[in-house]
Amino acid sequence: MSTQQAEPESQEAPEDPAMKGAESPAAEEQKGGGMVDEHAEKAAELEGETVHIKVFRYDPEVEGKQEPRFDDFHVPFEKGMTVLDSVMYARDEYDSSLTFRHSCRQAVCGSDAFFVNGKQRLGCKTQISDLEQPVRIEPLPHQEVVKDLVVDMDHFYDQMHTVEPYFQDEDTPPVDDLEEQRQSQENREKIKMSSRCIWCGACMSSCNIAAGDNEYLGPAAINKAYKFAMDDREGEEIKEHRLRILEQEHGVWRCQTQFSCTEVCPKDIPLTEHIQELKREAVKKNLKFW
Ligand code: SF4
Ligand code: FES
Repeated sequence: MSTQQAEPESQEAPEDPAMKGAESPAAEEQKGGGMVDEHAEKAAELEGETVHIKVFRYDPEVEGKQEPRFDDFHVPFEKGMTVLDSVMYARDEYDSSLTFRHSCRQAVCGSDAFFVNGKQRLGCKTQISDLEQPVRIEPLPHQEVVKDLVVDMDHFYDQMHTVEPYFQDEDTPPVDDLEEQRQSQENREKIKMSSRCIWCGACMSSCNIAAGDNEYLGPAAINKAYKFAMDDREGEEIKEHRLRILEQEHGVWRCQTQFSCTEVCPKDIPLTEHIQELKREAVKKNLKFW
């Protein structure tokens, strides 16, 4: 998949304090002059502290909106407000066409990873008060933009599925004989962090290697493989099968330990560490046959 996030800099809408609470001039033109008055009125109603956000806009399906740009919004600040809250306010109060994904609002579903002030972050986990203004909100880099803040996640999901992200058992007993498959406390501790992944894609978007090698499995998929490869209950044979997938040309050896994935992961998963550990496991596996 090509990486087609449009280059926003040159398309940036001019900043105008009089546009408080309003869209960019280009957007207003699209909607007709009446909207300008309406937004100006709403802006004038805002009292107290506001937050200035600049949101990336792009809609390939609407004539006149195919050119990427930034729209400025000023939203009322509330204690505890997150980046997601701010774009939701902008959408609900100023421009219902503003498009982004979100669901749980509590860092569980992984659907609202954005590029905020130059870093991959989860919208619902990022406090607006921790950021410099204007807060610049863009779609995840190195992904194709579908519309506004929505990126195409298909390639990310494909890579996740490449590592067979489900529990496999060497000798699954017949259904009637199924028993609880217990795991030791130590083993649970070992894979605990890897199991926190919420499939947000922030790590993949931050990875220079993934940006240059479309076939690289990427940190999230490798971490997912780690979760199962390190689970004692799967058995040695399946572990070897997993390591064979991981040691392929575009697998673990591509990682250059830049730590960008680890730095952006909203669930604090030590991704680089897990990748290095799998490299060691792959070497150990091969040593057996020498
Ligand atoms: S490893 Fe972290 S950054 Fe990557 S997809 Fe999972 S939760 Fe998101
Ligand atoms: S909305 Fe679900 S993780 Fe942010």
